[in-house]
Order: sequence, then C-alpha cells, then structure tokens
Amino acid sequence: MAPAALFVACLAATACLTSATSIPSTDSASIDFGPSEVEARQNAYSIFNAIHSAMRQWGSSLNHNGMSFFLATVPAGVMLYHGTSSPHSPPGPEWLAFEIEHAEMFAHPRYGRGKPPIPPRHGTPPGTQHPLIAPYDKGQTREPEHGHGYLHLYRTTSPLNLLYLDGTSAGNTAMGTLDTQDLILRFNRSAPVWDEAGRARELCDIVVPWGLHGVLRMEAGFEIIKCADFMRGMEMVASHRRPEVGKDKGAEGDRKAERFEFVRAVAQRYHGIGAGRVVVDWSSMVSGLFYEVDLGDKEKPRLVGLKDGELRGIRGRVAEVVKAREGEGRKGVVDWQGVVDMVVGRYADRLRDMAEGGGSLEKMQGEVNSLLNIYIDYVAEDEGYRKSIHRCAKHYTSSVARVTQEDKLILTAIETVMLDICSTLFEVRNVVVEGLEAHGEALRQAREALQGLMDRLRWTRWKQCVGCNYDEICTKQQVSESRAKVKHCVSRESNAGPIDGNDGFYH
Ligand SMILES: *[C@@H]1O[C@H](CO)[C@@H](O)[C@H](O)[C@H]1NC(C)=O
Repeated sequence: MAPAALFVACLAATACLTSATSIPSTDSASIDFGPSEVEARQNAYSIFNAIHSAMRQWGSSLNHNGMSFFLATVPAGVMLYHGTSSPHSPPGPEWLAFEIEHAEMFAHPRYGRGKPPIPPRHGTPPGTQHPLIAPYDKGQTREPEHGHGYLHLYRTTSPLNLLYLDGTSAGNTAMGTLDTQDLILRFNRSAPVWDEAGRARELCDIVVPWGLHGVLRMEAGFEIIKCADFMRGMEMVASHRRPEVGKDKGAEGDRKAERFEFVRAVAQRYHGIGAGRVVVDWSSMVSGLFYEVDLGDKEKPRLVGLKDGELRGIRGRVAEVVKAREGEGRKGVVDWQGVVDMVVGRYADRLRDMAEGGGSLEKMQGEVNSLLNIYIDYVAEDEGYRKSIHRCAKHYTSSVARVTQEDKLILTAIETVMLDICSTLFEVRNVVVEGLEAHGEALRQAREALQGLMDRLRWTRWKQCVGCNYDEICTKQQVSESRAKVKHCVSRESNAGPIDGNDGFYH
C-alpha cells in the first residue's frame, strides 16, 4: 500500500497508536502484497478474538471459519489416542485425538463394503479414525462387521511440531471451515468437502518438507493429522481390543452413553486443551486478517473471494514463517493469549453488568470510576483525558517485547481494541460522572455506548451458558431479541441434534 493511503487510513481510524508502516513481504513473487498494520487495525476485533479462541473449543466453534495459521508443539510425554480396526500402528497419515473418548468413537471393526457407517448428512469415508462426530446413525441398518475395533494409546517421545489451523478446521463443511486448508495450503478451489484421506495426504505433502510432523485441527475435539512416518516421535503404550458391538447386555445404553460422554469430554476443553499438551508459538501467527483482501462477512469470513496471487502470497508467508521460526524452539516470546485473557478477564463481566445489569446511576458512576480512576493523574492537565485514555489503552501491552512482524501486527490489533474500550469507558464516565443530563438520560446514553462496544467486541465469553445440570452439556447460548439469554443444555436423551447434526459445535 502506498504511503499516502496509509496516512489517510491512519487519520481516519480512531486508533492510530503506532505509526502505520507497511510491512513488506519478503515473498518475491508478491512484492506489493504483504501483511499490513492498516489491515491489522481494520480487523482488530477479529484478530483479538482469534487469539482468544485459539486452542479453545468454545470460541473456535462459535467462530468456526478460522483465518489463521500458528506453529504449535506437542511436548514429549503427552498421551494421544487413535481408534481403528487394527491392533497395529498405521503407516500414516492418520488421525490422533487428544481425548480418549474421541478416539473410542472410531475404535470399531471395519464395516462391510457398501454403506458408510456414519450419518450421511455430510458424507463420510468409512474405515478408520477421521474427524466426524457420530459413527452411528440410529436408524440405519449396518452391514455385517468384520474383526474387532482397537483403541491405541500413544505417548510422544519427542516434541511434535505441527501447523495449527484455527477455527473448526476439521469440520467437513462447505461453510468455510476448510478454507485455510483447501484454498491457501492446497490451492484448490474445487476440492470436495469430503475427501479426508486425500486432504490429509496433500497436507502432509506440504508440511513434511517444512520440517513438521503434521497438522493440528479441531472439530468436536482437537486432533492431529500425523504424517508418515506415523510413529516418528511417538511410542505405542497400548492397543486395546474393544467389546463386540451389540452383543452385550445394555448395548443400546452403552451406545447412548458413548456418544454423550464423548460430547462431555469435548466440552471439557471449551476453555483450553489443558495440561500444557499444546504450546502455541503466538509470534508465528499468519492470518488472512492481516491482509488487504476481501473476506466477506466479518463474523463468518471466507477466503473464496481472494485472487490466486493473494492466496499464494499468504501461503508463501506461512512457509516463510515456518522456516524462520525453526531455530527459535518454536516458542513465542510473547504470550499473546495471556495478554488477551487479561483484558477479557478485566472487562467482560464488568462491561456486561454495566450495559445490561440494570441498577442506579450511582452504581454506574462507581463502576466506571473504579475502572478508570487508576489511569488518571489528578495533578496533571489532561485535555479530554487523552493521556489517561492512552495509559488505559496501553496498560497490558506497554511492556511487551515484540520480535516478529506478526508480533507487531498482533500488538496493533490488541491496542486498537483497547483504545476502543478505553475511549468508550471515558465517554461513559463523561456522561455519568461529569455530565449534566438528567439521571435517566445519562444512564440510557451510557448503556447504549456500552452496548455498542459489546457489539463491536463480539467476545465469545458472552455467549457462554451457565447453570446446566450435571447430566447436561451447554452447547450454546443465544441472545434473544430482547437480549435475554437462552440456554441450550443438552442431555443424554436429547443429544440427537447437536451430536448427529454437528450443530452444537458450529453454532
Ligand atoms: C483439486 O481437487 C480435485 C479433486 O480432488 C482434483 O481432481 C484436482 O486435480 C485438484 N486440483 C488441483 C489444482 O490440485
């Protein structure tokens, strides 16, 4: 982008905390096409949320169309699981689950030729572990089975270096969940949705020469596509034969329980994979959100509108970053998700309470003062609280050391979001603390400003439901027209919808 255009964009944007310099891509094929701070500012809210949701089942289900790539490492000593019809390790590429219940869903004998065992709603390849939610369709008569199912347990013996694709990237849908794989990595606009084996093979053909062991994705549960040589960096701990399907007493109950407990296991990872099982190199983030490209809808972005050169340009940058980070131990210097978590932790409940909680003007005054007083120096002159707003906006990032180009773009995005939060809160303070409006009018104005801020932020935390029973799982919470929260708790008996149809995990 030309310097003049940058300057105008900078003036026009409310947020212009850092000087807007275009970051040149070193990809020689696309000199003029590179990530830019202007775009990081444009897409600031989405970038902020992508970092917040990475490796978390909840936000990655709500914002299911991932636009970003990260390097990620599974350290040595982590257990991974594989369900199949053979007692022996496969050659790869094959799928590994992080939750044992996920792999158990696939630990079944091979089905007779003919019908696939999985509900044909999205179509599916039969046979072995692959990303889909329910291997049974209740109403469907199955072909005779041969042999037995096996549940494999593996332990990593050395770190697995993976390319993590965010969002619900293992969701076989035409909604955009596969865009980063099919359009950017595979560069194929006509790849069919259901070609998991082909997709896995091609992804491995791409990432293995980059020195990686495979790809990390998410559907209902996180999973790895482990490339050949499958056993590299792993040892088999056990291979357990499964019970014969349908022969035992209580088999129907078992089947229901299996499906429900699988969803329960997945829901345990709503807010993180846990136990340090995946370490994300935040400084390696490459995202469509950093580029001046047409992503369509902000909430459900797509990469289909990108030109060939743009797709290639982003892919080139992914390859570059993977190479550049090789010697870095693939660990980011900055824990950007930690920074974002601090922000959400401080503001999410308070903003919601102030915007929607009701209460008096006095309560609102107390809340906004306690949030902002700490940023105000009551001795110094501060026209329009500009210095105070600046201090508020930089509170969580002023000490952050940034190393990579991507660090700089992430910083720009976070500070843009922070500037909006802080400016809006000072505006609210102005109305309720210093303003001259009547009580009712001041409160109305304040709530409207806060509601507008929440609409821009789109934090997934506000869609979480609380208060499901012990035998239920929250799949989503909708906000009705009247802004009332509608819970969606599913029980074992009512599980057909979210499990069979995937809907609960796509929202
Ligand atoms: C895209 O995928 C289809 C279906 O697998 C395949 O026939 C075609 O050759 C692929 N195109 C490219 C450019 O790889």
